[in-house]
Amino acid sequence: MRSINDETITDVALEQMSGTSDPRFKLIMEAAVRHLHAFAREVNLTPEEWLEGIRFFTAVGQECTSYRQEFVLLSDVLGLSALVGLLNDKSGTGFHSDSSLLGPFYRENSPHFELGESIATKTHGREIALYGHVLDSNGRGIPQASIQIWQTDEEGDYDMQKAEAAEMDLRGTFDTDSEGRYYLRSVLPAGYSIPMDGPVGNLIRAQKRHGLRPSHIHYLLGAPGYRELVTALYIDGDPHIGSDTVFGVTDSLVVKPTEQDPASPFPNLPGIRYDFTLSFAGKDQASGRVGADPSQITRVAQRAGRAT
Ligand SMILES: [Fe+2]
Repeated sequence: MRSINDETITDVALEQMSGTSDPRFKLIMEAAVRHLHAFAREVNLTPEEWLEGIRFFTAVGQECTSYRQEFVLLSDVLGLSALVGLLNDKSGTGFHSDSSLLGPFYRENSPHFELGESIATKTHGREIALYGHVLDSNGRGIPQASIQIWQTDEEGDYDMQKAEAAEMDLRGTFDTDSEGRYYLRSVLPAGYSIPMDGPVGNLIRAQKRHGLRPSHIHYLLGAPGYRELVTALYIDGDPHIGSDTVFGVTDSLVVKPTEQDPASPFPNLPGIRYDFTLSFAGKDQASGRVGADPSQITRVAQRAGRAT
């Protein structure tokens, strides 16, 4: 029998988990336990404080629905989503555009549009053109690449935050043409506050943070043989471009709409031209998504619940 004290408890716990057969799962859980124990020691965590932590995580879970993912939001505001994305970027093969967060408002199976169409099917606002190429690391256009796009309206709301949350708007899927070009229309999005009416909002207020994201448009791009790219374009001039609550902005993703561009497919509309570069798929076909459609996560949790 081993003596357990505040120093030996970590090794004892790791020893009990040492039979884990999956080596990657073993590595992750061992590191998680080591760092969690170190965290408790560093702050000398009290029972009441840890109970408060458990209450917080419980509330985060209870806030999750098919249309809201509070855990993704928590990961985002702690900078963990951005960090995991940046680590994933480093493992890409060849040059690629910078990534940014998927965020909690992504939805699978958004409506398919033809090039040139507008994703603003229910919303009115200042119309803009979005266009450019999807390129490989050698600068060649990728034909029939898939582009999923989603954004807020000019009030800063996503479709799933509205009363008719099941109805999709300001999101869609396009395919590039034979030369890798894409062009579509939308409306200029507004920046927004992350949902502040749940436990993550309470955390943000306790930390005296503003909880705001600068105006942006999300993109998820992919093609067979290429690594999926999760990214976003941020509109220059937004007052919160330098203090994004979820740490998604990097210089290469900041864009300024041009008033007129003779080379634009829509020369009379303000436009955002951006060429995205996808890296070639390496041995691992791992997705760069940190998160998922909230309804998918809820479904998995429900299945797991039934199994136990
Ligand atoms: Fe967003």
